[in-house]
Amino acid sequence: MVLSENFLWGGATAANQAEGGVLEGGRGLSNVDLLPIGKDRATISSGEIEHLEWDDNHFYPAKEAIDMYHHYKDDIKLFAELGFKVYRMSISWTRIFPNGDDEMPNQAGLDFYRGIFEELKKYGIEPLVTLAHFDVPVSLIKRYGGWRDRHLVDAYVRYAQTVMTAYKGLVNYWLTFNEINILIHSPFVGGGLIFKEGDNKKQLMYQAAHHQLVASSLVTKMAHDIDSENQIGCMLAGGMHYPYSCRPEDYKEAIDSDRKNYFFIDVQARGYYPNYAKKMFEREQIELEMLDGDLECLKNTVDFVSFSYYSSRTVSGFEEDYETTTGNLFRSIKNPNLESTEWGWQIDPLGLRNALNQLYDRYQKPLFIVENGLGAKDVPDENGYVADDYRIDYMRKHIIALKDAVEIDGVELMGYTSWGCIDLISASTGQMSKRYGFIYVDRDDAGQGTLRRSKKKSFDWYKQVITSNGEEL
Ligand code: BG6
Repeated sequence: MVLSENFLWGGATAANQAEGGVLEGGRGLSNVDLLPIGKDRATISSGEIEHLEWDDNHFYPAKEAIDMYHHYKDDIKLFAELGFKVYRMSISWTRIFPNGDDEMPNQAGLDFYRGIFEELKKYGIEPLVTLAHFDVPVSLIKRYGGWRDRHLVDAYVRYAQTVMTAYKGLVNYWLTFNEINILIHSPFVGGGLIFKEGDNKKQLMYQAAHHQLVASSLVTKMAHDIDSENQIGCMLAGGMHYPYSCRPEDYKEAIDSDRKNYFFIDVQARGYYPNYAKKMFEREQIELEMLDGDLECLKNTVDFVSFSYYSSRTVSGFEEDYETTTGNLFRSIKNPNLESTEWGWQIDPLGLRNALNQLYDRYQKPLFIVENGLGAKDVPDENGYVADDYRIDYMRKHIIALKDAVEIDGVELMGYTSWGCIDLISASTGQMSKRYGFIYVDRDDAGQGTLRRSKKKSFDWYKQVITSNGEEL
């Protein structure tokens, strides 16, 4: 058997894309609740315009999402039937602290997640909890401008301390920030940043990054103090960059582009700012405000490195007229050797093995694939059944690649949680029709539908993958 017996198979969701119930149980508003479906989504996500209230001109899919808030028991039952060993989810910060930094936590919010963790425990499913999955309390954005302000560090650490203490014994695997590098690609989503005229954007983004990195290291240390069983991971929007050609300039661009992404987890996994980043700060006249002790604190490195993988990317050192594509918020030159999904994300299973090797070489820490999957339009029959062979094909190839990385290359891999194990709302587009799940949810892009859950063909396939520990694909 290639994978160890305790390999953590499972699936992943995020609060804002699945829960709904945004104002129920005393919850406060979060940045991602305010992202509408449609053309304004990207501009708001980038922090170019301020949009901190709901209005009647837009539809906000996160408001109800797939209403896991009311369906979680049935959903977890289905995860148990799939044989999940682990379920990755996120806690919504504003369910616990509606304004982000309230004097007292919201008891109803704490009870809600306790209910989920106890339900998971009933089935022997280990939770893997992301503390901030694109989640910044709106009140903190209004009062402090999001992560640009140091106050967010204290507020986040208090939130983390509250949940880690409350769920001691129920949760042992934690991720501090989902896709932390998304901050520089989508600053409102990653850090609640909204730019004003005259702002030095890079300065603000890297200052916000510094705050998140300090917060992450403080929480890493604290987590170990709260419970020595706790394991903390960083989380990268992964996928390496290929040079478009063997021209040295293209290869250099690939290295530089990788560094731009790895910058965050380089700090989280190694415990210090890399030289290439310090040089970049000098060149770009970025001056980070730091407190005494910040650099010391960064030495609290994570226990494991987790990442999402959907695609590799291709870059060139030349400004030529290349055909481009977008995948997971990254623009890339279209790689002529790869097929694409309906959303133009390029499919590259070997790229997963490449990414695993690159990360393992770089950090020598256990890795965890916490997102991977195919976003596709599914057409259900009248019973809600979808014959999603295309999804099975995609996942089979990626699982073969990860097994090769373990068996042939010797990469240390803790587990695999496929993204959107139950259909949920797309982060980039807000669409419901971009589906990833083994479980179909009857809801459309306009928010219409019964929310009924039904099993797709991939449900039984993935169940067999888990039962056979990846041997029967
Ligand atoms: C990652 C995110 O970027 O990719 C998820 O962590 C997201 O939140 C996933 O849903 C897939 O992206 P999309 O845009 O297809 O939902």
